[in-house]
Parts: sequence; structure tokens; C-alpha cells
Amino acid sequence: MFLSAKTQLLSIDIGSSSIKLAQLSGSQGKFELSRLGVMPLEPEAVVEGVVKDEEQVVDALTRLVQAEKVDTKYAVASVSGENVIIKKIKVPIMPPEELEESIRQEAEQYIPFDIDDVQLDFQILPQKVRNEDDPAFDSEDEGKQEVVLVAVQNEIIDSRSDILTAAGLKPVVIDLDVFAVVNALGISRNLETMGSVALIDLGGAFTHLNILMDGVTSYTRDIPVAGNHITQELMSKFELEFEAAESLKMGVIPDNVERDQAIGAVVEAFGLILEELQRSFEFFSTTSNAQVDQAYVCGGGALTTGVDGLLADRLGVPVEIFDPLEAIKVSKRVFDQKSLAQMAPLATVAVGLATRRFDYK
Ligand SMILES: Nc1ncnc2c1ncn2[C@@H]1O[C@H](COP(=O)(O)OP(=O)(O)OP(=O)(O)O)[C@@H](O)[C@H]1O
Ligand SMILES: [Mg+2]
Repeated sequence: MFLSAKTQLLSIDIGSSSIKLAQLSGSQGKFELSRLGVMPLEPEAVVEGVVKDEEQVVDALTRLVQAEKVDTKYAVASVSGENVIIKKIKVPIMPPEELEESIRQEAEQYIPFDIDDVQLDFQILPQKVRNEDDPAFDSEDEGKQEVVLVAVQNEIIDSRSDILTAAGLKPVVIDLDVFAVVNALGISRNLETMGSVALIDLGGAFTHLNILMDGVTSYTRDIPVAGNHITQELMSKFELEFEAAESLKMGVIPDNVERDQAIGAVVEAFGLILEELQRSFEFFSTTSNAQVDQAYVCGGGALTTGVDGLLADRLGVPVEIFDPLEAIKVSKRVFDQKSLAQMAPLATVAVGLATRRFDYK
């Protein structure tokens, strides 16, 4: 069977806390949800984006695929974490056939691992023509073009592919978490006209940040402080087991803890995440000559009551909790609307990945 650009892919987001699966039918502007499911993982199965217990992850994925009665093998997955490098770089304008080799040479200085061990990809950005009156004008930019460089260690890609294969799937695309979030937002919004937008995916191991300028990825960072940090803080503060601390985040307050105390502890534990985000926003504004105009928050952490206010206060920008299903048709017959609404932000990466169609290159 040949895959065409229309082939619908099953999307698999293997996160540190859980695996999410999604599938969409239709095409851009007319998407309909076919499948959406989540399977939790034990805390040690995936650590900081790296699969540590392959057997457990394959087992959980196999059960999820069965539970969702999946009828396609072709799948897209994603990677994230500190082994994934995304950088905007400037290279001299040159013919496309020379560009690849030049970028490969240029890339070495930005990649902290052996260039032979990574898969490199790049995208040429639309050229900005600036005149000398523009505050962002830099005479050194003349004759140069901007490129987004992506480098992922081969072993990270191989590990994802092997897991999908072991669960009976055929991985055809491996994408990045932060790009999947862009695709999810792009279902309902025209990103090119939105100025500087921060996408904040509050996961278990990472706070995945991507700041877009008119729809183009300008600054990304996977901050290694997220939901697990909050869980750990609650565990030590109230002497709780992991499960009890996770439940506390979801509003199940243990007998020995006062409600106000619990809320205070969650807010306090968010402090480090807010600090890192603020630092990243400042770095973005000094290096890009632009201010973040607004932020969207997704991931499991976006389900924390009041998280939008907490972020807006600290970062000084309007913050919206992002629902990736807001512009997707959802059959009331097939899905329970209430439980779907409760988990939607957590499925943002999976939904964004599911917008991908297999395209021949
Ligand atoms: N209802 C909820 N309220 C508060 N926090 C929640 C809720 N549901 C999930 N979380 C938290 O969200 C985090 C998991 O989010 P998510 O599923 O987006 O992470 P992940 O994709 O598995 O991890 P990562 O992207 O870091 O690898 C956990 O820390 C969990 O405690
Ligand atoms: Mg995630």
C-alpha cells in the first residue's frame, strides 16, 4: 500500500506521565475527532523525555491501541527534552544544493553532541526585509538568511520508533512536541497575524516553551521543572505518597491537610516554573527586540485551577488555557463531552500531531 499526502496518521504522544493517542478525520478547517485516549505510565517509565522502561511503555501503548480499537498502523510520534535542539541561526544566502552541507558545518557549534549521532533538519524562514530605520536592523544580516535548525540524537528517534514498532504500529513521522502545539493552535487561529505568542505546555517532566513571532518559532526551551516538581514538593511538605500528591493536585485533599494549605503549597511549588518562564521571556525580549503579546497554556498542568491567573500575574501578559478541540467537530454520540472537556488541554500535543498527514519527500 502506498501512502498518499491524505493518509490519516494515528498520533502517539509518549510523555513522562502518560501516553496520549489521537486520530482526526477530515482536513484543515473540517477536522473531526475519531479517537482520543490516555494511558498513565509509572513515574520511572519515561524520565525527562527518555524511555527508561521500554517494556512498560510498549505494554501501555499496546493496551491503549487495543482499547481505542485502532484500525490503522501508520503513526506519528514526537520527541522533546534536552536532547532535542532547536535554534534559529543565520547563514549566508546560497543555492539550495550547497545549503545542506553549509548548515551541517554551521550546526556543529550549536550541538552539544557528536554531529554524526544526530538527525538534522532545517527550515528556511521567510526573509524579513528591514530598512535602516528599523530598530531590529543589523548591517551584519545583509546577505544572510534565517534558518530554524533542528537536531535530535538518533538514539532518541530510534527509541520512539522501536516502541511504536513493538506495539504493532508503523512510525512514519517523528515530530517535536513544541511543533505539535503550534499545529494544534493553528487549527483555530491564523498565527501569522498574532504577533509574539508564547505557547506553554506544562507537562510532567518539562515545561515546554515555544515563543512564536507571526507564527514562526523564534525561541524554544524545554525547562526541566514542571508537574513532577510540584508533586514532589507536595509529597515532602505533607508527607504523602506519589499517588496521594497527584490526587491532591486534582482536588482530592487528604484528611490531614487543610484546603487553603494545599492551595498555598501548589502556588508556592509553581514559583520555580514561573521564575524560569519569566527568565525565558526576558531572554526572548532582549534577543528579539520584541515583547510577548499573549500566552496559551496547555498540558496537564493547565488543568490546575487558577493557573492562568498565576501565569498572567507573573508574566504580565494575557494568558488563555488552550482547548485543542475548540475548532474540531466532536460527535456527542461517540464521546462523553464532560470527560473530554476535563482532559482536552492535556491532549494538545497528540491533537497537534494528528493534524499531520503523511507527505512524501
Ligand atoms: N486535573 C489536573 N490538575 C492539576 N494537575 C494535573 C491534572 N491532570 C494532570 N495534571 C498534572 O499534569 C502533569 C502531566 O501533564 P502531561 O500529561 O501534559 O505531561 P506529559 O506529557 O506526560 O509529560 P512531559 O511532556 O513533561 O514529558 C502531571 O504533573 C500531573 O500531575
Ligand atoms: Mg507532554
